Amino acid sequence: MTEKNDIDKPWGGRFTEKTTASTETFTASIHFDVRLYRHDIAGSRAHAKMLAKQGLLSKTEKDQILQGLAEIEMEIKTGRFEFRPELEDIHMNIEKTLVEKIGEAGEKLHTGRSRNDQVALDMRLYLREECSKLLELLTELQKGFVGLARQYIYAIMPGYTHLQRAQPVLLSHHLLAYYEMFRRDKERLADCLKRINVMPLGAAALAGTGLPIDREFVARELDFPAISTNSMDTVSDRDFMVEFLAACSLIQVHLSRFSEELVLWASQEFSFVEIADRFCTGSSIMPQKKNPDIPELIRGKSGRVVGSLMALLTVLKGLPLTYNRDLQEDKEPVFDAVDTVSHSLALTADLLGGLTFNRQTLSEATKAGFLTATDLADYLVMKNVPFRQAHAIVGSAVAYCLEQAKELTDLNLMELQMFSEAIGQDVFEVLSVEGSVNSRTSAGGTAAVEVEKALAAAETDLGIG
Ligand code: ARG
Repeated sequence: MTEKNDIDKPWGGRFTEKTTASTETFTASIHFDVRLYRHDIAGSRAHAKMLAKQGLLSKTEKDQILQGLAEIEMEIKTGRFEFRPELEDIHMNIEKTLVEKIGEAGEKLHTGRSRNDQVALDMRLYLREECSKLLELLTELQKGFVGLARQYIYAIMPGYTHLQRAQPVLLSHHLLAYYEMFRRDKERLADCLKRINVMPLGAAALAGTGLPIDREFVARELDFPAISTNSMDTVSDRDFMVEFLAACSLIQVHLSRFSEELVLWASQEFSFVEIADRFCTGSSIMPQKKNPDIPELIRGKSGRVVGSLMALLTVLKGLPLTYNRDLQEDKEPVFDAVDTVSHSLALTADLLGGLTFNRQTLSEATKAGFLTATDLADYLVMKNVPFRQAHAIVGSAVAYCLEQAKELTDLNLMELQMFSEAIGQDVFEVLSVEGSVNSRTSAGGTAAVEVEKALAAAETDLGIG
């Protein structure tokens, strides 16, 4: 037994030895949970007001606490606060400093509260704020896609399946596909926010408290629409973080898919788009290089975000009720995902402003590759040829073209009629790229009339245009 016990620690009373230095280093979370300081202080303010209302604190004690917390908040904000790793986390660093500032009143703040419900509250307050910020970033990004769709509304390009030219589409239709993905991402975040927005304080360590607290009051103070129901669930529930990370993963995956398209499209092979120099970097050895590093990094960072989701699920799997210290491992993945997704969203939105599409190249690319073969098949269907037969007829025509090094549009009526007698003079409209695009008038199709409607709806949704 050493001389000095750990009476300096808020939990030190029952200890007869000082913790070893490596125990302190290993258990400390202050270097990352410092991010929660505003939320921790907001929670403590609401808790102190509630304790005073319930007669558990005098008005003077409450005022001292609020004054002390205000000073601490200012000190942290201005970088004057002295963080002590031996006090483990943000909760104990703030509480201990408060006691040093105001004495006994500070020692009453933790009445009816545990760090287990406190940390749950802090994370909920934090994520509530981050969700709102992400929703704004997503909206800005959507505006970028919709703006580009408006600018290039009638530009035609090849649509791909299997990365093989498939059917001609409008570039605006392609861009609006991303508007849709990010619209769903916003819905997912908004839905997740409902389960984040539940007030956990009052669950205490795990079983609730016998002290006469008022949880509804705290919920109102902190603007929560509901309080949590089961105290044991409350201190062990991290579902809302898993949902948040799942939503973040999908956002980053969507960004990554678009990034991949940009990398392809900016290549010399495609030359569909030029990315402004201000978003590109060069090579240290090859003087001619201009590399799309931003989209590449965004694509690469999807690994981190999906990794964060996996990390948290793995932490949770097999955890018995209720709070276990493993749960401290929930924070770094969440913080990293917030940073990565926020930066990636903001950068992609900026990047959209630096894209110049090459209308000529896009349109040229629709001329080769039999992009209107399906249109010819559909034409035959309209002439009462069963679709399977029509498919085979056009297949033979394509094989003929390949042999002759021709496109379908190069064939004259006589040549076409070798494959089917149902083909008439009106076929040439169908074989044109513009005709093909504009024939796809099914709801949500690429015909200009449909895309005009979709674009107008998106602009209304975003309050632009
Ligand atoms: N730093 C801890 C965490 O992040 C706070 C809760 C600690 N609770 C406890 N019983 N040791 O989870």
